[in-house]
Amino acid sequence: MSRFARIASTSIGKKLLMAVTGLGMTGWLVGHLTGNLKVFLGQKEVNEYALWLHDHPALLWPARIAMLVFILIHIRKGLQLRGENTKARPSKYQVETTLRAGFPSLHMAMSGIVLMLFIAMHLAHYTFHLLPGEYRNDAMGNPDVYSMMIAGFKDPLFSGTYVIALGFVGLHLWHALSSALQTLGINHSAYNTLLRNGLKGLVLVMLLGFWSIPITVFLHFNNIVQLPIPAWN
Ligand code: HEM
Repeated sequence: MSRFARIASTSIGKKLLMAVTGLGMTGWLVGHLTGNLKVFLGQKEVNEYALWLHDHPALLWPARIAMLVFILIHIRKGLQLRGENTKARPSKYQVETTLRAGFPSLHMAMSGIVLMLFIAMHLAHYTFHLLPGEYRNDAMGNPDVYSMMIAGFKDPLFSGTYVIALGFVGLHLWHALSSALQTLGINHSAYNTLLRNGLKGLVLVMLLGFWSIPITVFLHFNNIVQLPIPAWN
C-alpha cells in the first residue's frame, strides 16, 4: 500500500481528503456563482460567458474532471467516516445511535444527500437538457442559457425547488467550512473568531447570491414586482 493510500485510509486522512475536496468544490462554486450573476447584465452577457467557457476546453474539462473526482472522493470518504462513527458507538436501538451521532453529523448527511439530488436534477436540466424547458439558440446562434434560466425560474415549482435546495447547500457549507479549517489545523487564537465569522459571511453572501437568481426572475417575469434591472426591461 502506498504512503498516500495508507494515510487516506486513516480517520484523519479521510477527514483531510473531505476538507480539501470540499474547499475545492466551494472555490468552484464561487466561480459558478460569479458567472451566473451575469444574468443580471442581460442575455448577451450571460450567453457570451457560457460560450466563452465552452470555447476554452483546456479550462473547462480539467475543472469538470476535478469536480467529478472531488465529488466522488467526498461522498466515499463521508460514507466511510459515518460508517466508522456508527460502528464505534454500537447501540441496540437505531434512535439512540442517531441521537448520539449528534445534530451536526446528522444534518451534514441529510443536507449532503439533498445536495447530491439537487446536482443530479441541475445537470439533467442545464447540462443534459433532459427536463422540460427552453433549449434554443439566441440571435447569434449560441446556446441561450439566459432564456433557459428565465423560462425555468418563472415557474413557481421550479424556482421553489431551487430556493429550498439552495438553502440546503447553504446549510451544508455553514457547518462544513469551519469544520474543514479545524481538520486542516488552521487555528490561531487571535484570528479564530475572525476566520469563522468571515467564513459564515462568505456562506451567507453565496446563499443570497444564488437565491437572488430564482427569486428575482420569478418576481420580475411574473409581474409580481417590477424590479429596476435595466437588462430585464
Ligand atoms: C441559482 C443557482 C444556479 C444557477 C442559475 C446555475 C446555472 C447553471 C448553468 C446555466 C449551467 C450550465 C452551464 C453551461 O454548460 O453552459 C450550470 C452547470 C452546473 N452547475 Fe449550476 N447553477 C446554480 C447553482 C448551482 C449549485 C448550487 C451547484 C452545486 C452545488 C451547481 C452545480 C453545477 C454543476 C456541477 C454544473 C455542470 C458544470 C459543467 O458542465 O461543467 N450549480 N449551472
